[in-house]
Amino acid sequence: MDRPQAEARIVELRDLIERHNELYHVRDAPEISDAEFDALFRELRDLEAAHPELATIDSPTRRVGGAVLEGFATVAHAAPMLSLDSDADEEAIDRFDERVRRALGEGASVAYVLEPKFDGASLELVYEDGLLTRAATRGNGVAGEDITANARTIATVPLRLRAAARAVPRFLSVRAEVIIEIAPFEEYNARLVAEGKPPFASPRNTAAGALRQLDSRLTARRPLDIFVYDVLAAEGFAAATHWEILAALVEWGFRVTDERRRVETAAQIRDYFREMTAKREEMPYEIDGVVVKLDDLAARRELGTTSHHPRWAFAMKFQPRRAVTRLLDIVASVGRTGVVTPVAMLEPVVIGGVTVSRATLHNREEVARKDVRKGDLVAVQRAGDVIPQVLEWIPEQGRRRARAFRMPARCPSCRTPLVERGPFSVCPNSLDCPAQLAGRIIHLGSRHALDVEGLGEETARLLVAEGLVKHLPDLFDLKAEQLTPLEGFAEKSAGALVAGLARAARAELPRFLYGLGIPEVGATVARQLARHFGTLAALRAADEEALTAVEGVGPIMAAAIAGFFREEHTVEVLDALLDGRIRLVESEPASAATGPFENLKFVLTGALAGMTREEARREIEARGGRVVSSVSARTSYVVVGEDPGSKYDKAQKLGVEILDEAAFRELLTAS
Ligand code: IVH
Repeated sequence: MDRPQAEARIVELRDLIERHNELYHVRDAPEISDAEFDALFRELRDLEAAHPELATIDSPTRRVGGAVLEGFATVAHAAPMLSLDSDADEEAIDRFDERVRRALGEGASVAYVLEPKFDGASLELVYEDGLLTRAATRGNGVAGEDITANARTIATVPLRLRAAARAVPRFLSVRAEVIIEIAPFEEYNARLVAEGKPPFASPRNTAAGALRQLDSRLTARRPLDIFVYDVLAAEGFAAATHWEILAALVEWGFRVTDERRRVETAAQIRDYFREMTAKREEMPYEIDGVVVKLDDLAARRELGTTSHHPRWAFAMKFQPRRAVTRLLDIVASVGRTGVVTPVAMLEPVVIGGVTVSRATLHNREEVARKDVRKGDLVAVQRAGDVIPQVLEWIPEQGRRRARAFRMPARCPSCRTPLVERGPFSVCPNSLDCPAQLAGRIIHLGSRHALDVEGLGEETARLLVAEGLVKHLPDLFDLKAEQLTPLEGFAEKSAGALVAGLARAARAELPRFLYGLGIPEVGATVARQLARHFGTLAALRAADEEALTAVEGVGPIMAAAIAGFFREEHTVEVLDALLDGRIRLVESEPASAATGPFENLKFVLTGALAGMTREEARREIEARGGRVVSSVSARTSYVVVGEDPGSKYDKAQKLGVEILDEAAFRELLTAS
């Protein structure tokens, strides 16, 4: 390839990669497989290596981070980054609404835009002629630290804006919140704990810390994400409303929350606040309230700002998630991997609507570091789905403290002497320790694994203690008659557990993989493995090299996975499970809904005029159909919008039925 050809291809590849990066990370609607994406990425990296003079700072290959800085420069923001007035009392909604209406004059029409209040770190992103040129922390609101290199590593930060119906402005400064979603956060922490390092306290602290790393390669390792929610300044772009600004941000390729809503009354604000309060628990990331913003920008100017906050916006905060309670005891608990964890048994306390009575203390070094002891008053934190944490002990005058915690010398379950592995104490009796088997049962039945109704911790321990389950596969041989004599079981609950197990026996591959408790493999990696290999047989046959080709799998994890599948015990358990006990669903996970589209596979390509891709997906899934990413002879329909890609050609070649938007809508209405 000569230089001009290389240059043209590099430009093309950068565009393609950023487009697919956006589809995957921002729109959650990938159009190509991970392998295809990796191939594009490798091609670009190789071309840039061969033509170093063509490398540019906005290349997606730079997202992995680079040189270590001495410190950060201070940079002024394009406009002050104000903070918000806030309240946790619902009456404040009415007071705010009344103030706004009074200021704008009776009878003025008022609309508000409502958004979640992301619990993250605030960030300014500056684009010149569509190119990301600067990113800065909020700092004191007027100036912050220049963390451009770090921001570039975040997959949801566009390096170049997309010109759409709306042209890209000459200058654009936007405000965003950097967050880490809860599942990747927990996996990241689990990895730290496995390495004997102290875990992070919250996704927010982790995100804020990651932004201020001098070595951007460290930032690149943290699973950061952004949501963009405002334009701070622009040249070559003007809008009349906030709602319009959000639409423009979406068009340019930013990640904007789908939870935004435009309303006109205080009652609607209250409804939204209540809805989000309820939804908070199931959100994939943490929110700490909702933000109410006056939609009309001219009306905003009329209201103005105080020195700190705008008068046209305000935050309704959720209840705090920290509480103080008594530490009743520290108990050594044996998990499925044999690691003995000190667990804080707490006087039950309600935090954010959930009762907390236990919290892990991770390992003996962590207990020593926090120096918490039986009987102490302790501060406890619970954030989103994140496991509750003991933060610190609180001194009380005149109270004598108990002795410091000591790890037992023998396994509390099977009495085998414990062995020390770094900061961890481990029961080496992995095959016969009852607590470890119970732990494996609990994990296999847990929500993100096979989700077996009625199989809680107590039941799992009982099944093992009564000798009904001696090996994991025995679980699926249980009969209701065996359960009814057990304490706590009636005919109904026994039947329910057996039925729950029978339902769970038809297992989607990602859930099954996660449930096996492969070392290092959390729910996200399990999904990636299932997506990459498709079948368990293919995964079991994969060597370490093949495993590292999977997104999110490095050499250490690959070795752990390959080692797991080679173990004699694993082979026995898997063979027994697959011998009629578990039936694996091995293609893409089937959608839960049934309906007229059952067994139909749709491929979406090109932009639809009347609905987003996500809406189209929901319509299809609501009727029991599935949306898949690539066209094959087994595809039922290819839905074609504006500017369809190569999928259209492929559909024609394979003779797959093609629907334009009108035909697709007809099909939806007809069913
Ligand atoms: S608007 C002038 N919208 O909450 C209005 N802020 O003090 C500026 N935040 O520092 C903020 N989610 O970091 C806005 N949807 C959202 C937000 C949001 C989170 C943060 C922001 C700000 C703090 C409020």
